[in-house]
Amino acid sequence: MVGTALIEVKEVTKKFHGIVAVDGVSFSVPTGSIWGLIGPNGAGKSTLLNVINGIYEADSGEVFFKGRSLRDKKVFDIAQMGISRTFQIAHVFRRMSVYDNMLAPTIFLKEKDSVVRERIDYLLEFVGLTEKRSQYAYELSGGQQKLLEFARALVTDPSVLLMDEPFAGVHPEIKAQLLGNIRELNGQGKTIVLVSHDMRSVSGLCQQVTVLNFGEKLAEGPPEKVLNDRKVIEAYLGEE
Ligand SMILES: Nc1ncnc2c1ncn2[C@@H]1O[C@H](COP(=O)(O)OP(=O)(O)O)[C@@H](O)[C@H]1O
Ligand SMILES: [Mg+2]
Repeated sequence: MVGTALIEVKEVTKKFHGIVAVDGVSFSVPTGSIWGLIGPNGAGKSTLLNVINGIYEADSGEVFFKGRSLRDKKVFDIAQMGISRTFQIAHVFRRMSVYDNMLAPTIFLKEKDSVVRERIDYLLEFVGLTEKRSQYAYELSGGQQKLLEFARALVTDPSVLLMDEPFAGVHPEIKAQLLGNIRELNGQGKTIVLVSHDMRSVSGLCQQVTVLNFGEKLAEGPPEKVLNDRKVIEAYLGEE
């Protein structure tokens, strides 16, 4: 069910030494939705995810989660509040086993050990990595590392998952797996913010999309409308 705003991005600006990476962007993600965040390379998508999950502090503007401001909250606090994140290039602990990677976020958790281990078993099965549980993460392919990072992001049972280019550079089989996983998670009630260049997947998954260009919001609406918007097509045509 899609409900009230779970994440509200309000007039967020983030600069790097004079480069305005995100320029006064606002949007509001309803509970239970899959929200797309798209735009050409360098548009500010990853930076905005980094502001939402507390890696960067906004220069101005604010992000609200369940109506609470995330200003001054650190990555750890935000993760604990229920926002998880995956990266364009998977951040896994390469010299740790798949299973130990899954244990890493459990320092956040107050649940019983047996409950956590049951969830980890479920998640490894969910992404198809049960058989790889004892292997080192570096032994996995890039796509499998993305699956591991994705599964690990779910160990804390977050209400929101921010995903940065999950399909980039992955084998079609793994992409199909991820697409199914994202749909299923959303069916379980999780809210997803999806950054992707894969327009077919964005159209298939997202109810609404926000388009960024040079840090600014260029368009917003249902994918079929936004992807036919002249301004949006022109912005993508400018991409090298
Ligand atoms: N840590 C950083 N330091 C300096 N500039 C950055 C940093 N991160 C991003 N940028 C710049 O901010 C702009 C937006 O980058 P980014 O958010 O990575 O775009 P996208 O994810 O949409 O491709 C780009 O001009 C990029 O070079
Ligand atoms: Mg990016």
